[in-house]
Amino acid sequence: MAPKALFNLLLIFLVITGGSSVQYFYYLNQCPYTVWLAASPGIGDLMPERPPYTLYIFPTPDQWNGSIWARTKCSTDASLHFSCETGDCGSGTIDCQSPPPKYPVTLLNFDIDQSVVSYEVSLNHGYNDVPVRIEPIGGTLEGRSDKCPTVDCIQDLSNVCPSTLVAKNKDGWAVGCFSPCDAFKDPQFCCTGNFSGQACQPNEYSKRFKELCGLAHTYPADKTPEIYRCKDAATYNITFCP
Ligand SMILES: *[C@@H]1O[C@H](CO)[C@@H](O)[C@H](O)[C@H]1NC(C)=O
Ligand SMILES: *[C@@H]1O[C@H](CO)[C@@H](O)[C@H](O)[C@H]1NC(C)=O
Ligand SMILES: *[C@@H]1O[C@H](CO)[C@@H](O)[C@H](O)[C@H]1NC(C)=O
Repeated sequence: MAPKALFNLLLIFLVITGGSSVQYFYYLNQCPYTVWLAASPGIGDLMPERPPYTLYIFPTPDQWNGSIWARTKCSTDASLHFSCETGDCGSGTIDCQSPPPKYPVTLLNFDIDQSVVSYEVSLNHGYNDVPVRIEPIGGTLEGRSDKCPTVDCIQDLSNVCPSTLVAKNKDGWAVGCFSPCDAFKDPQFCCTGNFSGQACQPNEYSKRFKELCGLAHTYPADKTPEIYRCKDAATYNITFCP
C-alpha cells in the first residue's frame, strides 16, 4: 500500500478510537527505518514501535512536563532483552517510560498544561542522527496573535560533530554526537558553578550545532528561539525525518 493511503487509513482508525484529550500528538515517522518512541517521565500508553511511513495519533495528557525521543536500531537478543543503539533507557523491554535515556539523544521537550504547551527541540544531550520537527497545527502563541512556530533539527549534525564528540556503536560506527557537557563534564559547557546563569554562553561546539539547527536549543541557557508557549493548537505534528 502506498504510504499516503496507509496514513489515511490509520488516521481514520485512530481518530475514531481516540479519547477526549485537549490536544493530540501526531507522530509521523517518515524515516526509511523504524524508530521506537520513549518518554521521560512516563506519558501514558504509548505504542513505541513506529515503522517507516506511519502515523500514530496520541491523545496527550492534560498535564505533563518531560522529554520524548526516538530510539534507533532496537532489537531483542537471545535472552529476550530489548535494547537500542541510541536512546536506550535500560528497561530491557520495548516500553521505555520514565528512566532517562542513554545519551546522546535528540530531545523533544514539552510542558503541557491543558491547552497551553511549551515545546522545544533540544541538543543539550546531543543528537542521535534522527532529523526531527515539531509543528503545532492551529493555535497562537500565549498572549499574542502570532501563529505557533515550527521548531526542528533536520540537518545532519554528523557533518559538524568533532571526533571527540562522536558516539559509536559496538561495531565502531558513528551513531550520534554527544553534547560537550555530557562528554567533558566541564562547568563551562554544562553551565554549572561559575558558568551558571548569566555566565552561561554559547561555546565552540554549540555554535557549530546552531549553524545547522538554528531552531533547536544548543546549550543549557540557549533562549534563541525563545521556548514557545502555544495555546489552543489542535495537534502537534511530530515528524521524524520530515
Ligand atoms: C518542566 O521541567 C523542566 C526540566 O525538568 C523544568 O526546568 C521546568 O521548570 C518544568 N516546568 C514546570 C512548569 O514545572
Ligand atoms: C570560580 O571563580 C573564582 C574566581 O575566578 C575562582 O576562584 C574559583 O576557583 C572558581 N570556581 C570553580 C569551581 O571553578
Ligand atoms: C500534520 O499531520 C497530518 C497527518 O499526517 C497531516 O495530514 C497534516 O497535513 C499535517 N499538517 C501539516 C501542516 O503538515
